[in-house]
Order: sequence, then C-alpha cells, then structure tokens
Amino acid sequence: MNSALSSLPAFEHLASIPLYVPGKPIQEVQRELGLTSIVKLASNENPWGPTDAVKTRVAAAVTGAEFEGLGLYPVSDGWYLRQRIAQRKGITPDRVILGNGSSEILEMIAKAALLDGGSAVVPRHSFAIYGIATQTAGGRVIESRASATELDVDDILRSVAADTRLVYLGHPNNPTGLRLERAALERLVRGLREDIVLVVDQAYAEYEDPAEYPDAAGYLDERPNLLVLHTFSKIHALAAMRIGYGLGSKELMQYLERVRSPFNTNHLAQVAAEVAVQDLAFEAFSRQKNHEARTAFVAEAAHHRCQLSGTSGNFILLESAFPAAELFKELLQRGVIVRPMQGYGLPNHIRITFGKPEEMAAFWKAASPLLDGGC
Ligand SMILES: Cc1ncc(COP(=O)(O)O)c(C=O)c1O
Repeated sequence: MNSALSSLPAFEHLASIPLYVPGKPIQEVQRELGLTSIVKLASNENPWGPTDAVKTRVAAAVTGAEFEGLGLYPVSDGWYLRQRIAQRKGITPDRVILGNGSSEILEMIAKAALLDGGSAVVPRHSFAIYGIATQTAGGRVIESRASATELDVDDILRSVAADTRLVYLGHPNNPTGLRLERAALERLVRGLREDIVLVVDQAYAEYEDPAEYPDAAGYLDERPNLLVLHTFSKIHALAAMRIGYGLGSKELMQYLERVRSPFNTNHLAQVAAEVAVQDLAFEAFSRQKNHEARTAFVAEAAHHRCQLSGTSGNFILLESAFPAAELFKELLQRGVIVRPMQGYGLPNHIRITFGKPEEMAAFWKAASPLLDGGC
C-alpha cells in the first residue's frame, strides 16, 4: 500500500481493489508528449457521430429555446427517455432504468445484490468494472475460466458458489470480442439458480447483425432475475454524455430504484439519448462502417502475420511478440493511442478500436514498422 493510503487506515480494505485505468485522453497525450496529430483508438467510441439531429436537440436545451433550461433539475428518473427506450424494446417503461453510463448500473446492481456480502462470478478477461463494482460493494469475485478466443458457459455455471448473488456476462465481451451462440446463452439463462441475478452487458450489441444476434432481452419474461444492459457510449456515439440503460423485470427495477441516486442522469444526456435511440439509420450506417473497418484491418494484419481475436464489437485484440505495455508506448510516441491489455490478463495483447479509414491508416503507418518482422 502506498503511504498516502496507509495514513487513512479506515479505508485499508479498499487498497487491494484494482483501479480502473481508462483509455488515455487525446488532451493528455498532447500535454505530455507535445504532439499535435493524435488518433485515439483506445475506448471503443464511435467516430462517426453523434448526428446533427442529436446536436441540434442538445443545443436547444443549452440555449433554453426549450422550456427546460439548465437551471432546473433534470427529470430524476428520465421518464421521457425511458418511454422511448421502452417503445423501441417493446416493453413497458417500468422495466427500464437509466444510469450515468451503464457502468453506474453495474455499480447499482452490485450494491443492491451484495449489500450484506456474497459473491459474483466474473469471467476472466472481461470488462474491469464487473470485478471492481463487486469488490467496492463488499462482494467477493469468483473468476471463471475464459480465454482470448473462448467464453466458457459451462465453467461459469460450475463456478457458482452457495453465496453467489450475481453472474456477469459481456455479450459481446470486451476486450475479447466474443459472444455466445443462442444455445449457449440459453444454457446460461436457464442453468443458473433462480435467486442469482444474471447481468448480460450488451454494450456492443448494436454492432451485431440483428438477424443473427441472440439478444438476452428475449429472456426477460422468463427470468425475473435478468438484467440486460445497454449504453449510449458506443454505437450511439454519446460517450461524453454518460448515459446507459438497463432492462429487467418490474420487481428488479423497483429494487434498483432504491440504490439509484436521484438525478443520476443529466438533462442534456437524456435529450440527446431520446433522439439517438430512435435513429436506426445511424445505427445501420455505423454498423456498416465498422464492418468495413474490421474487414480492412484483418486483411492488413494478415500481411504482418498478427494473431487476432474477436469477431464482435467495434474493436479487435492483436497479439504480438512485444509486451503490450511496450507496443502501447511505441505507438503513443507516434501519436496513436491504443489500449494495452496486461491489466486484463493479456500481457501481449493490445486492443484497437475501429476508427475512420484515415485513423486506421495512421495506426498502420505507426504500427507497420514496429511489426515488420512479423507480429
Ligand atoms: C462491456 C462494456 N460495458 C460497459 C461499458 C461502459 O459503458 P458506459 O460508458 O455506458 O459506462 C463499457 C465501456 O467501455 C464496456 O466495454
């Protein structure tokens, strides 16, 4: 423990919880390295948005052209946005909850389920907040087996302990870009004890082909203890706004309401998301652009004989002979920010978000000389 922490013994139990390490912001790289041309491919944002319609709606709220104004509190439970989401998902608004990013809903469910202890099953190599939220809520993490190329439902089911209250699944999973086939998802949904809350995090679901993707929301009616999460940070291109949503049974939502802080989502985020959630054309456009970027990336990586994993989401894992931290640093010096994955148990992998063609060209311009002898 560092000395700053040891001088506050009341918090010692927090010292072993890992810190979340975000993607490096562009401004920080500018400040630290004095670079002017920087490309960020580190946090799985959508480079193609938000749309003009979203910006116009936000501007109207900022200028006070609409009745709301910035001096008033937002609608605490985001009623209008929840109506829109419910309409789109074909459920009632009392089965929708909003969060300050879906990360906040991950924290809410951990707080709600682990109030007096218990454990959560977290698959290896998955989004860091699953483990962090569990531990900060006072719960114990049980890590289930998974690899960079395989999610293992049977091991998730085997890992459940008598005191398990929560099971997390990234679907598609970040950072491995894997998702389950329908039969495997069904085995998980139906194979867990009824008292366990299954959290299916679908932050990247909109990047999947809707005709093929097994949406966990299809099981909401059969499993009251299912929480399906989505975010406006990814395909909807509103990461700066911090807004996400959860879908579940009315009963589960009523419990989550007890741990939701009032006014947790702000007015600008709510109105932006109201427009974004209805814009299916922008989603289809972004999905197509992402598909094109992935196809081009896979072709280029083959020249360098790089090992890739994942076929889902707006990102890809690249394995190289370089330690991830070194490759990250070398790319950073050349103005390209990616995400090193050593903190996710993948010491030789970096994760690259699919950007615009010119951003991907900047990546390969920086990476090619480094990977020249073969990945
Ligand atoms: C799998 C997964 N879930 C949730 C989130 C959090 O998104 P939000 O911005 O909504 O908090 C991320 C962000 O990277 C993610 O990768």
